[in-house]
Amino acid sequence: MKEVTIQVFDTTLRDGEQVPGCKLNTQQKLVIAEQLEIMGVDIIEAGFPISSPGDYKSVQEIGKLITRSTVCGLSRAVESDITAAAEALRTAKHPRIHTGLGTSESHIKYKFKSTQEKILDRAVAAVKFAKKYVEDIEFYAEDAGRTDNEYLARICEAVIKAGATVLNIPDTTGYCLPDEYGDKIRFLKENVKGIEKAVLSTHCHNDLGMATANTISGVRNGATQVECTINGIGERAGNTSLEEVVMVLKQHDNLGFDTNIKTELLYPMSQLVSEKMGVVVQPNKAIVGSNAFAHSSGIHQDGVIKRRDTYEIINPADVGVDHSRIVLTARSGRAALAFRARQIGFELTKDELDLMYQKFLLLADIKKEVEENDLLKLLSNKIKISAA
Ligand code: KIV
Ligand code: ZN
Repeated sequence: MKEVTIQVFDTTLRDGEQVPGCKLNTQQKLVIAEQLEIMGVDIIEAGFPISSPGDYKSVQEIGKLITRSTVCGLSRAVESDITAAAEALRTAKHPRIHTGLGTSESHIKYKFKSTQEKILDRAVAAVKFAKKYVEDIEFYAEDAGRTDNEYLARICEAVIKAGATVLNIPDTTGYCLPDEYGDKIRFLKENVKGIEKAVLSTHCHNDLGMATANTISGVRNGATQVECTINGIGERAGNTSLEEVVMVLKQHDNLGFDTNIKTELLYPMSQLVSEKMGVVVQPNKAIVGSNAFAHSSGIHQDGVIKRRDTYEIINPADVGVDHSRIVLTARSGRAALAFRARQIGFELTKDELDLMYQKFLLLADIKKEVEENDLLKLLSNKIKISAA
Protein backbone atom coordinates (compact mmCIF):
# COMPACT_ATOMS: atom_id res chain seq x y z
CA MET A 1 0.00 0.00 0.00
CA LYS A 2 1.31 3.46 -0.90
CA GLU A 3 1.90 5.53 2.22
CA VAL A 4 0.52 9.06 2.55
CA THR A 5 3.02 11.34 4.27
CA ILE A 6 1.20 13.41 6.88
CA GLN A 7 2.59 16.91 7.35
CA VAL A 8 3.45 17.65 10.98
CA PHE A 9 2.68 21.23 12.07
CA ASP A 10 4.18 21.99 15.46
CA THR A 11 2.61 24.76 17.51
CA THR A 12 4.63 24.34 20.72
CA LEU A 13 6.05 27.84 20.25
CA ARG A 14 2.59 29.41 19.77
CA ASP A 15 -0.36 27.45 21.23
CA GLY A 16 1.94 25.70 23.69
CA GLU A 17 3.86 28.76 24.73
CA GLN A 18 0.73 30.85 25.43
CA VAL A 19 0.09 28.76 28.56
CA PRO A 20 0.82 30.58 31.84
CA GLY A 21 4.28 29.65 33.06
CA CYS A 22 5.46 28.35 29.67
CA LYS A 23 6.60 31.65 28.18
CA LEU A 24 9.91 31.54 26.34
CA ASN A 25 12.28 34.27 25.27
CA THR A 26 13.61 34.56 21.72
CA GLN A 27 16.81 32.68 22.49
CA GLN A 28 14.93 29.76 24.01
CA LYS A 29 12.49 29.71 21.09
CA LEU A 30 15.38 29.62 18.62
CA VAL A 31 16.94 26.61 20.33
CA ILE A 32 13.65 24.72 20.22
CA ALA A 33 12.87 25.75 16.62
CA GLU A 34 16.25 24.51 15.46
CA GLN A 35 15.68 21.11 17.07
CA LEU A 36 12.14 20.92 15.65
CA GLU A 37 13.58 21.38 12.19
CA ILE A 38 16.27 18.76 12.80
CA MET A 39 13.58 16.36 14.08
CA GLY A 40 11.71 16.70 10.77
CA VAL A 41 8.77 18.97 11.63
CA ASP A 42 7.30 20.26 8.35
CA ILE A 43 5.76 23.49 9.66
CA ILE A 44 6.84 25.40 12.75
CA GLU A 45 4.31 27.87 14.13
CA ALA A 46 6.77 30.32 15.61
CA GLY A 47 4.42 32.72 17.38
CA PHE A 48 1.80 35.45 17.16
CA PRO A 49 3.73 38.50 15.91
CA ILE A 50 1.18 41.21 16.78
CA SER A 51 0.90 39.96 20.37
CA SER A 52 4.15 41.53 21.65
CA PRO A 53 7.42 43.00 20.34
CA GLY A 54 9.22 39.98 21.81
CA ASP A 55 7.08 37.51 19.91
CA TYR A 56 7.42 39.54 16.71
CA LYS A 57 11.21 39.30 17.09
CA SER A 58 11.03 35.57 17.81
CA VAL A 59 9.05 34.91 14.62
CA GLN A 60 11.47 37.09 12.66
CA GLU A 61 14.59 35.37 14.04
CA ILE A 62 13.15 31.88 13.60
CA GLY A 63 12.28 32.80 10.01
CA LYS A 64 15.91 33.74 9.42
CA LEU A 65 17.31 30.61 11.08
CA ILE A 66 15.10 27.90 9.63
CA THR A 67 15.76 26.81 6.07
CA ARG A 68 13.86 23.58 5.41
CA SER A 69 10.66 23.79 7.46
CA THR A 70 7.90 26.28 6.72
CA VAL A 71 7.74 29.01 9.36
CA CYS A 72 4.25 30.18 10.27
CA GLY A 73 2.95 33.23 12.12
CA LEU A 74 -0.52 33.52 13.64
CA SER A 75 -2.91 36.42 13.13
CA ARG A 76 -6.55 37.19 13.73
CA ALA A 77 -8.63 38.10 10.67
CA VAL A 78 -7.56 41.69 11.20
CA GLU A 79 -5.40 43.66 8.75
CA SER A 80 -2.93 44.96 11.35
CA ASP A 81 -2.35 41.40 12.64
CA ILE A 82 -1.80 40.09 9.13
CA THR A 83 0.59 42.91 8.27
CA ALA A 84 2.60 42.25 11.44
CA ALA A 85 2.80 38.53 10.59
CA ALA A 86 3.83 39.29 7.00
CA GLU A 87 6.54 41.70 8.11
CA ALA A 88 7.91 39.35 10.74
CA LEU A 89 8.08 36.60 8.11
CA ARG A 90 9.56 38.80 5.37
CA THR A 91 12.96 37.11 5.43
CA ALA A 92 11.71 33.58 6.04
CA LYS A 93 12.57 31.06 3.36
CA HIS A 94 9.17 29.33 3.44
CA PRO A 95 6.70 31.72 5.12
CA ARG A 96 3.09 30.93 5.96
CA ILE A 97 0.46 33.27 7.41
CA HIS A 98 -2.13 31.59 9.62
CA THR A 99 -5.26 33.68 9.83
CA GLY A 100 -8.86 33.11 10.77
CA LEU A 101 -11.71 33.67 13.17
CA GLY A 102 -14.45 31.91 15.14
CA THR A 103 -17.17 30.26 13.08
CA SER A 104 -19.40 28.52 15.64
CA GLU A 105 -22.75 29.95 16.66
CA SER A 106 -21.38 30.84 20.06
CA HIS A 107 -18.43 32.76 18.61
CA ILE A 108 -20.51 34.54 15.97
CA LYS A 109 -23.38 35.45 18.31
CA TYR A 110 -21.59 36.23 21.58
CA LYS A 111 -17.96 37.00 20.72
CA PHE A 112 -18.46 38.91 17.50
CA LYS A 113 -22.15 39.84 17.86
CA SER A 114 -22.30 39.31 14.14
CA THR A 115 -23.94 37.09 11.51
CA GLN A 116 -22.77 34.09 9.51
CA GLU A 117 -22.71 36.14 6.29
CA LYS A 118 -20.57 38.91 7.79
CA ILE A 119 -18.13 36.39 9.29
CA LEU A 120 -17.83 34.65 5.92
CA ASP A 121 -17.04 38.00 4.27
CA ARG A 122 -14.41 38.75 6.94
CA ALA A 123 -12.79 35.37 6.41
CA VAL A 124 -12.55 35.91 2.66
CA ALA A 125 -11.23 39.46 3.08
CA ALA A 126 -8.55 38.28 5.54
CA VAL A 127 -7.32 35.54 3.22
CA LYS A 128 -7.24 37.92 0.23
CA PHE A 129 -5.35 40.49 2.28
CA ALA A 130 -2.80 37.92 3.50
CA LYS A 131 -2.39 36.61 -0.04
CA LYS A 132 -0.91 39.97 -1.07
CA TYR A 133 2.11 39.12 1.08
CA VAL A 134 2.68 35.37 0.83
CA GLU A 135 1.50 32.46 -1.28
CA ASP A 136 1.00 30.00 1.57
CA ILE A 137 -2.09 30.96 3.61
CA GLU A 138 -3.62 28.77 6.28
CA PHE A 139 -7.15 29.64 7.33
CA TYR A 140 -8.46 28.56 10.77
CA ALA A 141 -12.15 28.27 11.54
CA GLU A 142 -11.91 28.63 15.31
CA ASP A 143 -14.30 26.35 17.20
CA ALA A 144 -14.93 24.36 14.01
CA GLY A 145 -15.60 21.42 16.32
CA ARG A 146 -18.89 23.06 17.31
CA THR A 147 -19.58 24.72 13.96
CA ASP A 148 -22.44 23.51 11.79
CA ASN A 149 -20.90 21.40 8.98
CA GLU A 150 -22.89 23.03 6.14
CA TYR A 151 -21.77 26.50 7.16
CA LEU A 152 -18.20 25.31 7.73
CA ALA A 153 -18.18 23.88 4.20
CA ARG A 154 -19.38 27.23 2.78
CA ILE A 155 -16.60 29.10 4.57
CA CYS A 156 -13.98 26.58 3.46
CA GLU A 157 -15.11 26.86 -0.15
CA ALA A 158 -15.02 30.63 -0.03
CA VAL A 159 -11.56 30.88 1.52
CA ILE A 160 -10.10 28.37 -0.95
CA LYS A 161 -11.44 30.59 -3.76
CA ALA A 162 -9.78 33.54 -2.03
CA GLY A 163 -6.43 31.71 -2.02
CA ALA A 164 -6.19 29.63 1.18
CA THR A 165 -3.79 26.72 0.75
CA VAL A 166 -4.52 25.02 4.08
CA LEU A 167 -7.80 24.71 6.01
CA ASN A 168 -7.37 24.30 9.73
CA ILE A 169 -10.41 22.70 11.40
CA PRO A 170 -9.80 23.24 15.13
CA ASP A 171 -11.70 21.44 17.83
CA THR A 172 -10.84 24.47 19.95
CA THR A 173 -12.73 23.33 23.06
CA GLY A 174 -11.83 19.65 22.83
CA TYR A 175 -15.53 18.77 22.70
CA CYS A 176 -15.78 16.42 19.72
CA LEU A 177 -15.93 12.65 19.86
CA PRO A 178 -13.47 10.89 17.52
CA ASP A 179 -16.22 9.71 15.12
CA GLU A 180 -17.81 13.14 15.09
CA TYR A 181 -14.52 14.88 14.31
CA GLY A 182 -13.64 12.32 11.62
CA ASP A 183 -17.10 12.74 10.06
CA LYS A 184 -16.59 16.50 9.97
CA ILE A 185 -13.34 16.13 8.04
CA ARG A 186 -14.93 13.64 5.67
CA PHE A 187 -17.92 15.94 5.16
CA LEU A 188 -15.58 18.76 4.11
CA LYS A 189 -13.59 16.47 1.87
CA GLU A 190 -16.75 15.36 0.11
CA ASN A 191 -18.70 18.62 0.00
CA VAL A 192 -16.29 21.51 -0.45
CA LYS A 193 -15.77 22.47 -4.07
CA GLY A 194 -12.06 22.96 -4.81
CA ILE A 195 -10.96 20.97 -1.73
CA GLU A 196 -8.36 19.16 -3.85
CA LYS A 197 -6.47 22.48 -4.05
CA ALA A 198 -6.11 22.70 -0.26
CA VAL A 199 -4.71 20.68 2.63
CA LEU A 200 -7.11 19.77 5.44
CA SER A 201 -5.53 20.14 8.86
CA THR A 202 -6.49 18.85 12.30
CA HIS A 203 -6.02 20.99 15.42
CA CYS A 204 -7.45 19.28 18.49
CA HIS A 205 -7.50 20.28 22.14
CA ASN A 206 -7.51 17.79 24.96
CA ASP A 207 -10.28 18.94 27.31
CA LEU A 208 -11.87 15.48 27.34
CA GLY A 209 -8.60 13.61 26.83
CA MET A 210 -9.45 12.84 23.19
CA ALA A 211 -7.09 15.11 21.24
CA THR A 212 -4.92 12.29 19.90
CA ALA A 213 -7.90 10.05 19.10
CA ASN A 214 -9.64 12.93 17.31
CA THR A 215 -6.52 13.77 15.33
CA ILE A 216 -6.09 10.17 14.19
CA SER A 217 -9.75 10.05 13.25
CA GLY A 218 -9.25 13.25 11.23
CA VAL A 219 -6.31 11.69 9.39
CA ARG A 220 -8.25 8.51 8.65
CA ASN A 221 -10.96 10.65 7.11
CA GLY A 222 -8.85 12.81 4.84
CA ALA A 223 -6.76 15.33 6.81
CA THR A 224 -3.13 15.38 5.64
CA GLN A 225 -1.72 17.85 8.17
CA VAL A 226 -1.76 17.46 11.97
CA GLU A 227 -1.23 20.32 14.44
CA CYS A 228 0.41 19.27 17.67
CA THR A 229 2.70 20.32 20.49
CA ILE A 230 5.59 18.60 22.20
CA ASN A 231 4.41 16.94 25.44
CA GLY A 232 0.86 17.98 24.48
CA ILE A 233 1.23 21.33 26.19
CA GLY A 234 -1.27 24.05 25.33
CA GLU A 235 -4.31 25.97 26.49
CA ARG A 236 -6.16 24.35 29.44
CA ALA A 237 -5.74 20.56 29.12
CA GLY A 238 -3.40 21.06 26.18
CA ASN A 239 -3.14 20.32 22.47
CA THR A 240 -2.64 17.06 20.64
CA SER A 241 0.69 15.60 21.64
CA LEU A 242 3.07 15.37 18.69
CA GLU A 243 4.89 12.31 19.98
CA GLU A 244 1.62 10.41 20.44
CA VAL A 245 0.27 11.09 16.95
CA VAL A 246 3.58 10.33 15.26
CA MET A 247 3.96 7.04 17.12
CA VAL A 248 0.34 5.98 16.52
CA LEU A 249 0.92 6.39 12.79
CA LYS A 250 4.27 4.58 12.99
CA GLN A 251 3.08 1.67 15.11
CA HIS A 252 -0.08 1.22 13.03
CA ASP A 253 1.70 1.31 9.69
CA ASN A 254 -1.11 -0.79 8.20
CA LEU A 255 -3.18 2.42 8.18
CA GLY A 256 -0.97 3.65 5.33
CA PHE A 257 0.36 6.90 6.82
CA ASP A 258 3.82 8.06 7.73
CA THR A 259 5.51 11.32 8.74
CA ASN A 260 8.91 12.94 8.21
CA ILE A 261 9.68 12.84 11.95
CA LYS A 262 12.91 11.20 13.12
CA THR A 263 11.25 9.39 15.97
CA GLU A 264 14.49 8.69 17.85
CA LEU A 265 14.61 12.43 18.59
CA LEU A 266 11.19 12.48 20.31
CA TYR A 267 12.43 11.86 23.84
CA PRO A 268 15.33 14.37 23.71
CA MET A 269 12.88 16.91 22.23
CA SER A 270 10.41 16.31 25.05
CA GLN A 271 13.17 16.83 27.62
CA LEU A 272 14.35 20.02 25.92
CA VAL A 273 10.87 21.57 25.91
CA SER A 274 10.25 20.49 29.49
CA GLU A 275 13.53 22.02 30.60
CA LYS A 276 13.13 25.32 28.69
CA MET A 277 9.52 25.79 29.79
CA GLY A 278 10.08 24.55 33.31
CA VAL A 279 7.14 22.16 33.05
CA VAL A 280 7.65 18.58 34.17
CA VAL A 281 6.36 15.76 32.00
CA GLN A 282 3.88 13.62 33.92
CA PRO A 283 5.53 10.23 34.64
CA ASN A 284 2.75 8.26 32.95
CA LYS A 285 2.72 10.43 29.80
CA ALA A 286 2.53 8.18 26.74
CA ILE A 287 5.80 7.82 24.79
CA VAL A 288 7.95 10.31 26.75
CA GLY A 289 6.94 9.97 30.43
CA SER A 290 9.56 8.52 32.80
CA ASN A 291 7.35 5.46 33.36
CA ALA A 292 6.50 4.90 29.69
CA PHE A 293 9.05 2.06 29.54
CA ALA A 294 9.22 1.12 33.23
CA HIS A 295 7.88 -2.17 34.55
CA SER A 296 7.24 -2.66 38.24
CA SER A 297 4.79 -5.48 38.84
CA GLY A 298 6.18 -9.00 39.08
CA ILE A 299 3.89 -10.40 36.38
CA HIS A 300 4.86 -7.75 33.85
CA GLN A 301 8.56 -7.90 34.74
CA ASP A 302 8.69 -11.64 34.23
CA GLY A 303 7.05 -11.24 30.80
CA VAL A 304 9.30 -8.38 29.67
CA ILE A 305 12.48 -10.12 30.82
CA LYS A 306 11.48 -13.20 28.80
CA ARG A 307 10.48 -11.19 25.76
CA ARG A 308 10.29 -7.38 25.61
CA ASP A 309 7.22 -7.11 23.39
CA THR A 310 5.08 -9.08 25.84
CA TYR A 311 4.33 -5.76 27.51
CA GLU A 312 5.97 -3.18 25.25
CA ILE A 313 4.50 -2.22 21.88
CA ILE A 314 7.25 0.32 21.18
CA ASN A 315 10.97 -0.31 21.14
CA PRO A 316 12.30 2.42 23.50
CA ALA A 317 15.24 3.04 21.13
CA ASP A 318 12.73 4.09 18.44
CA VAL A 319 11.80 7.16 20.50
CA GLY A 320 15.28 7.89 21.84
CA VAL A 321 14.96 6.18 25.23
CA ASP A 322 18.07 4.09 26.08
CA HIS A 323 16.28 1.04 27.42
CA SER A 324 13.25 -0.14 29.37
CA ARG A 325 13.55 -0.17 33.13
CA ILE A 326 12.82 -2.97 35.54
CA VAL A 327 11.89 -1.08 38.68
CA LEU A 328 12.18 -2.81 42.02
CA THR A 329 9.23 -2.28 44.35
CA ALA A 330 7.30 -4.41 46.82
CA ARG A 331 5.22 -5.60 43.84
CA SER A 332 8.26 -6.96 42.02
CA GLY A 333 8.97 -10.66 41.64
CA ARG A 334 11.97 -12.96 41.86
CA ALA A 335 12.64 -12.70 38.10
CA ALA A 336 13.10 -8.93 38.41
CA LEU A 337 15.37 -9.23 41.43
CA ALA A 338 17.54 -11.83 39.68
CA PHE A 339 17.63 -9.68 36.53
CA ARG A 340 18.68 -6.50 38.36
CA ALA A 341 21.22 -8.43 40.47
CA ARG A 342 22.75 -9.87 37.27
CA GLN A 343 23.00 -6.36 35.82
CA ILE A 344 25.28 -5.33 38.67
CA GLY A 345 27.35 -8.50 38.61
CA PHE A 346 25.60 -10.94 40.97
CA GLU A 347 24.57 -14.30 39.54
CA LEU A 348 22.30 -15.82 42.22
CA THR A 349 21.58 -19.52 42.71
CA LYS A 350 17.97 -20.51 43.33
CA ASP A 351 18.54 -20.75 47.10
CA GLU A 352 20.40 -17.45 47.22
CA LEU A 353 17.59 -15.82 45.28
CA ASP A 354 14.92 -17.21 47.64
CA LEU A 355 16.79 -15.88 50.65
CA MET A 356 17.58 -12.54 49.06
CA TYR A 357 13.99 -12.11 47.90
CA GLN A 358 12.67 -12.31 51.46
CA LYS A 359 15.17 -9.65 52.58
CA PHE A 360 14.36 -7.58 49.52
CA LEU A 361 10.62 -7.60 50.30
CA LEU A 362 11.22 -6.30 53.82
CA LEU A 363 13.21 -3.41 52.43
CA ALA A 364 10.77 -2.79 49.58
CA ASP A 365 7.88 -2.51 52.03
CA ILE A 366 9.71 0.36 53.71
CA LYS A 367 10.88 2.15 50.56
CA LYS A 368 8.82 3.22 47.51
CA GLU A 369 11.55 1.94 45.23
CA VAL A 370 14.64 -0.16 45.89
CA GLU A 371 17.41 1.69 44.11
CA GLU A 372 20.61 0.26 42.72
CA ASN A 373 22.71 1.29 45.71
CA ASP A 374 20.15 -0.35 48.10
CA LEU A 375 20.35 -3.49 46.03
CA LEU A 376 24.11 -3.46 46.06
CA LYS A 377 24.17 -3.18 49.85
CA LEU A 378 21.53 -5.88 50.19
CA LEU A 379 23.45 -8.24 47.96
CA SER A 380 26.70 -7.51 49.72
CA ASN A 381 24.94 -8.36 52.97
CA LYS A 382 25.57 -4.88 54.23
CA ILE A 383 21.94 -4.33 55.19
CA LYS A 384 20.49 -6.26 58.09
CA ILE A 385 16.72 -6.29 57.86
CA SER A 386 14.54 -8.15 60.25
CA ALA A 387 10.76 -8.41 60.35
CA ALA A 388 9.52 -6.09 63.11
O1 KIV B 1 -7.53 26.21 19.11
C1 KIV B 1 -7.67 27.03 18.20
O2 KIV B 1 -8.74 27.23 17.64
C2 KIV B 1 -6.49 27.78 17.81
C3 KIV B 1 -6.58 28.65 16.60
C4 KIV B 1 -6.08 30.03 16.89
C5 KIV B 1 -5.86 28.03 15.46
O3 KIV B 1 -5.45 27.65 18.41
ZN1 ZN C 1 -5.47 25.81 19.61
